[in-house]
Amino acid sequence: MVMSLAACGGVDPNSPQGKRTAIFKEMLSVSEDLGGMLRGRIAYDEALFVEKALELEVLSQQPWQHFPSVKGDEKTSARDDVWQQQERFQELARVLEGTTARLVASTTQPPLNDSVLALRVQAIEDACESCHKEFRAY
Ligand code: HEC
Repeated sequence: MVMSLAACGGVDPNSPQGKRTAIFKEMLSVSEDLGGMLRGRIAYDEALFVEKALELEVLSQQPWQHFPSVKGDEKTSARDDVWQQQERFQELARVLEGTTARLVASTTQPPLNDSVLALRVQAIEDACESCHKEFRAY
C-alpha cells in the first residue's frame, strides 16, 4: 500500500482526487490520439478514430462525480473556485460533454469528413482549455 501511494506521487488512487486524476490523464491521452491522427502525428485509422471518439465521450462524463461538494484537504491544482462556483464549473463540464457528443455524432455516417472532424476535435480541446483557464492552477 505504501509503495503504491508513493508511485502515484502521494495521492491515494482510491481517493476522489486519485480517481479523477486517472480519468483526466486518460482523457488527455485519448484526445491527443484523436488530434494526432488528424494532424498526421500518428497514422490515421478510421475504425480506431471512431472507437476513441466514443471512449472520449464516455470519459468526458466521468471526472465530475469525483469532485466532492466540499473541498477536502487534498493538495490539488484545482482552484477553490471549483467549490465556490460550482454552477459555472458544472456548466463547463456540460460544454465538454456536448463537444464530445458532437464528435461522436460526426463519426456515425461514413465516409467521415476530415475537416468536420478537425473542427469537432478543436472544439473539444477548446473546452478543456477554457475550464482549465478558469478552474485549474498550474
Ligand atoms: C469543467 C472543467 C474541466 C474540463 C472541461 C476539463 N478539465 Fe482537466 N482539470 C480540471 C481541474 C479542476 C483539474 C485540476 C486537478 C484536479 O483537482 O482534479 C484538471 C486537471 C487535468 C489534468 C491533470 C491531472 C493531474 O493532476 O495529473 C489533465 C491531464 C486534464 N485535466 C486533462 C483534461 C482534458 C484532456 C480535458 C478535455 C478533454 C479536460 N481536462 C477538461 C477541470 C477540467
